[in-house]
Amino acid sequence: MLNRDEKVKIAVLISGTGTNLQALIDAVENGSIKNGKISLVISSNKDAYGLKRASKHGIENIFIPSEKNDRVDNFEKSLTKELRERKIDLIVLAGFMKILSEDFVKKYPNRIINIHPSLIPSFCGKGAYGIHVHEMALDYGVKVTGATVHFVNEIPDGGKIILQKAVEIKEKDTPEILQKRVMREAEWTLLPKAVSMVCDKIMEEKNESL
Ligand code: GAR
Repeated sequence: MLNRDEKVKIAVLISGTGTNLQALIDAVENGSIKNGKISLVISSNKDAYGLKRASKHGIENIFIPSEKNDRVDNFEKSLTKELRERKIDLIVLAGFMKILSEDFVKKYPNRIINIHPSLIPSFCGKGAYGIHVHEMALDYGVKVTGATVHFVNEIPDGGKIILQKAVEIKEKDTPEILQKRVMREAEWTLLPKAVSMVCDKIMEEKNESL
């Protein structure tokens, strides 16, 4: 798929604010991600602020509608078409709030990665997303939480772990305060680092096969 000297083409899938997308954009621009470039940003939500972040940095961005009662296939059909047209090599789920089907995920083995705001296997799986993950951690009373970057397989949050980082929980934390600390102390460094590692690996494999 890749020619010599060509960077790994990344598509970032988002649904909201896109602070993790921003961390990736910054890492590509400052050279911490050497072997990858963000070719496309796709949002399942047309008002996602992440789309504006992409535009500001001249990155192509599109919205693919996904109605609650719609068949998942319609979203994934369009998604597959857009990814194929641009010959995307790596898909990064950065605050993407849909679960991709088994059929879709099987088409991209070790080529989809996700960031989750807890230390998997705690507080993860179906229904554990965004602020709810931090509510679950506080309700349980754990003293340490964190973030995990992992490959995506057919089990929600069940794929091979790439990187994890622990974050301390403090006495007076609210879900919102904790969410911010996990992003600041873990997510925004962990995701670019993992993406960089995976891009390096893809390039290495490419060079070996030349
Ligand atoms: C992040 O905390 C991310 O880890 C989480 O949603 C937030 C998105 O923020 N993802 C999940 O919960 C996925 N299960 P962002 O839009 O500012 O990057």
